[in-house]
Amino acid sequence: MSTIIIDGKKISQDIKDELKKEVEELNKKEIYPGLAVVLVGNNPASKVYVSNKKKACEYIGIRSFSYELPEETSEEELLNLIDVLNKDEKVNGILVQLPLPKHINEKKILLAINPKKDVDCFHPYNVGLITIGDLDGFLPCTPAGIIELIKRTNIDIEGKKCVVVGRSNIVGKPVSLLLLSNNGTVEICHSRTKNLSGICKEADILVAAIGKPKFITADMIKEGAVLIDVGINRLENGKLCGDIDFENCKEKAKAITPVPGGVGPMTIAMLMKNCVKAALMQN
Ligand code: GUN
Repeated sequence: MSTIIIDGKKISQDIKDELKKEVEELNKKEIYPGLAVVLVGNNPASKVYVSNKKKACEYIGIRSFSYELPEETSEEELLNLIDVLNKDEKVNGILVQLPLPKHINEKKILLAINPKKDVDCFHPYNVGLITIGDLDGFLPCTPAGIIELIKRTNIDIEGKKCVVVGRSNIVGKPVSLLLLSNNGTVEICHSRTKNLSGICKEADILVAAIGKPKFITADMIKEGAVLIDVGINRLENGKLCGDIDFENCKEKAKAITPVPGGVGPMTIAMLMKNCVKAALMQN
């Protein structure tokens, strides 16, 4: 049987088209979803991400309000901006692009965002809701994108052994919680895990979010596994590659996400979904 290559580009486009229609309906009721996008400093990758987020807003019909602040911006200035955005009724969602410059306390900034406008789902209040299994509010973007990829490929999570490699707050931890909420049996591995290879080999669904190029090799996976690759690594030849050795794993897998074009495009689609949800919750 041939391996399913999970097309994140296509699935994210489907989601954006669904949202575009939803926003058209909201506009008829005079609801105009709005997202504030805040970028501090000159991180080149962040600039690309922010620009892509604004483009997606434009496509769907979400109003975007852009704030590009210099590297020297003080923590107080940023907190003041967040306070203004929290109170602005045209702004339904606030996104502060990470990482922030070192002199700014990231935790303090994320805590200052009104949880009702926290479309990244980074505020501890919203993370707490996910932890207690309440998925009615915002969902963390990359993890929710992963679940969406799995579901739209008609793969059941219930009862499956799910192994997540990586324990970051942005991906590893929250995707583990979402898999658990979907009745997966979840194991989280990380740099200190003993017998990582053996644990990965038991996975029906393997999520790799470690940031090490081609870390997951064919000998570490089970025949027929579903492989989700969150890694975006740049090789010396300038090409992008994931955390999974795609070429060697794909024959053995039931389904696999490519890099690029797998999980990557889903993050923005799910951010857009949260923005529309924010507008609905606030109206
Ligand atoms: N930096 C890397 N990923 C993300 C993300 O999903 N949201 C924000 N705000 N910053 C990021």
